[in-house]
Amino acid sequence: MESKVEKQGLEELKRMAAEESVKFVRDGDVVGLGTGSTAKYMVIALGERVRQGLSIKGVPTSQESADLAHKHCIPLLNNDGAWAIDVAIDGADQVDPQLNLIKGGGGALLREKIVAAAARQLIIIVDESKRVPVLGHPMPLPVEVATFGWKSTACQIEQLGVKAVIREHGGQRYKTEAGNYILDLQIDRITDPAGLEARLNVIPGVVETGLFVGRTHVLIVGTPRGVEIQTAANR
Ligand code: 5RP
Repeated sequence: MESKVEKQGLEELKRMAAEESVKFVRDGDVVGLGTGSTAKYMVIALGERVRQGLSIKGVPTSQESADLAHKHCIPLLNNDGAWAIDVAIDGADQVDPQLNLIKGGGGALLREKIVAAAARQLIIIVDESKRVPVLGHPMPLPVEVATFGWKSTACQIEQLGVKAVIREHGGQRYKTEAGNYILDLQIDRITDPAGLEARLNVIPGVVETGLFVGRTHVLIVGTPRGVEIQTAANR
């Protein structure tokens, strides 16, 4: 189990990555605001820059991020789109060397992917424990599914040779902000993320997957040696 000291160390690495990321935000930008414990530090740091005079508008990827943005005086655009998002900044559960991601540990993957897709630039902020050679075990792949017929959807997903576990919270089935369920897929090694995403997306009932393939422009990693920045090739 992770010790308290290790956890405090990881928090510091998340904060370092988050504070670096807000340096990419320019006056007048529309900014996609990610969700999670790392993105939280980014919203706080952005709020500090707003207090110092930066003029931006935010598009939050969850109610939690919207509430945090309000608290830190970041003005928000409404949820209807179409926004011209200059930069979206978000966390991730895993990052591979090609900057493909697993996201959705916090359950906000649907809004996160919509915002990432609408952004000219996606910046991912992580502590170095999130970097892996290949996506997959021990991190499950979250897939958001319609509640109607979810067991049929799960059966079709399992025909791909993976195990699908319905996410629960407090003894109840977990529901996303959009009112859907999440299936956490247990997969050893995701060697073809784009192929898997395509196979999942054609299954009726699948609303969105937590695979973010070819979307990251910049990766910012908090490490004990300092912040490391990796820019995606050809993006
Ligand atoms: C939420 C997400 C988060 O970005 C991901 O779970 C990482 O969260 P944290 O920064 O707390 O580790 O995808 O849906």
